Amino acid sequence: MKASSPTFLSLFLLLLLLLSPLPSVVALLRAPPRLPSVSAEKLIRELNLFPNQPINIVGDSNRLHAAAPRIVERRFKFPNVIDPRGVSVEELGHHAGYYQIEHSHAARMFYFFFESRNSSEDPVVIWLTGGPGCSSEMALFYENGPFTIANNLSLVWNEYGWDKVSNILYVDQPIGTGFSYSSDRRDIRHDEKGVSDDLYDFLQAFFKEHPHLAKNDFYITGESYAGHYIPALAARVHQGNKAKEGIHVNLKGFAIGNGLTDPAIQYGAYADYAMDMGILTQSEHDRINKVLPVCETAIKLCGTDGTISCVAAYIVCNTIFSSIFARAGNVNYYDIRKKCEGSLCYDFSNVEKFLNQKSVRGALGVGDIEFVSCSTTVYEAMLVDWMRNLEVGIPALLEDGIKLLVYAGEYDLICNWLGNSRWVHAMEWRGQKAFVASPEVPFEVDGAKAGLLTSHGPLSFLKVHDAGHMVPMDQPKASLEMLKRWMEGLLSKSTTDSGTLVSSI
Ligand SMILES: *[C@@H]1O[C@H](CO)[C@@H](O)[C@H](O)[C@H]1NC(C)=O
Ligand SMILES: *[C@@H]1O[C@H](CO)[C@@H](O)[C@H](O)[C@H]1NC(C)=O
Repeated sequence: MKASSPTFLSLFLLLLLLLSPLPSVVALLRAPPRLPSVSAEKLIRELNLFPNQPINIVGDSNRLHAAAPRIVERRFKFPNVIDPRGVSVEELGHHAGYYQIEHSHAARMFYFFFESRNSSEDPVVIWLTGGPGCSSEMALFYENGPFTIANNLSLVWNEYGWDKVSNILYVDQPIGTGFSYSSDRRDIRHDEKGVSDDLYDFLQAFFKEHPHLAKNDFYITGESYAGHYIPALAARVHQGNKAKEGIHVNLKGFAIGNGLTDPAIQYGAYADYAMDMGILTQSEHDRINKVLPVCETAIKLCGTDGTISCVAAYIVCNTIFSSIFARAGNVNYYDIRKKCEGSLCYDFSNVEKFLNQKSVRGALGVGDIEFVSCSTTVYEAMLVDWMRNLEVGIPALLEDGIKLLVYAGEYDLICNWLGNSRWVHAMEWRGQKAFVASPEVPFEVDGAKAGLLTSHGPLSFLKVHDAGHMVPMDQPKASLEMLKRWMEGLLSKSTTDSGTLVSSI
């Protein structure tokens, strides 16, 4: 690769950090920068996941046939569903499918589509799990899907599944994740352009397959690293609509749960959040934040389309996170109320056990494709994307009336509410002043305070009580209420009403 001046500058920054004689910076080396491959592996082990492959790149025997239809979808019923009523496959409306990605060499994207338990008129919602490189089936079975997995691997209906109010899609992406695969390594994605183009092409094919759903409202949702995917996909869909590229997708809004969207602001919030929550003392906080100016400069160099500078920023800035973690001991960084036992922070191993059963794989029609719960290769391939700022495309969407909800469980450290609240408030758009001036009102579910809401016009921020990184797992009922009210445009209304009531008493 030809060296450019930003390359030198970022290497210089890195050297500056590593060679700095400041004792404070040297102290940081107690938590030396981790290699990305080590970070990715650690992430997966902490969730008790053991995928057989680092990515789903398959042999030539699985090559695509040019003549095959773009979408192959089947209605299915999971075996082992605890279902005393004996609902038929037709009534269920559960589909599993593969989409042959149009702008790829040989890639197929796997998805689940669950028809709404209420009405086919309900909005269409797409859910994207983060990682980068983790399968959306993580959310399907542990957060907001129609079922949860019991310990004996039976499926139990989820009373608060998001399919109660929406026709919901769970997509395995970027390519190589979950059951999605390719036989050509050139299909591995490295940035949000690759990710959002693939998802846009998928949506076009999906609505072509289900034309009656194209007129429904459409919402993009997800979590964690999807704080990058979601704004990128929203912008891609909006662009496609404006240019009349294909089927009009009735995009009404996008919602980011405990996401990473604006790294410069969010990395600046780590030490503050950790100190507020009693994980760091003031002096530890100050010492760790000495690296912040270097991190911020590195992120600025990365911008929205840097390359090597973005990798340098990842390495520099993540010393902040690893330093906090080195002091926090075995605190679970997805939920600081919890401890990681040994190397285990959560145990999501049942999703692998469940999906690797012969009967389940047969029902889904995945053949001998491996289930890659989280892909280390996809994680590493997206490294250049990590520090890019995805906030920049959002104001234009808000100004065209597309709604954004940013929500965050209050006990998550890794994508904490403080950093999210800060970037949402700092975002410059026509309604910024009014948003910033809006009062914080309680978000109530069943008469109890489930969170704190700030909203104005199309923009809402919700701090969710009693929840960590995975809000729908920790607060299933409140999260379903949140989705429903937000889609109906009632998120702020109900709470504003009770707010005025309280203040007039
Ligand atoms: C499996 O667990 C579920 C939920 O705990 C229970 O309802 C069901 O009866 C169990 N099934 C078997 C076969 O033990
Ligand atoms: C169920 O669907 C109907 C018809 O589309 C809609 O009016 C109603 O609000 C939905 N109910 C819920 C709980 O979402």
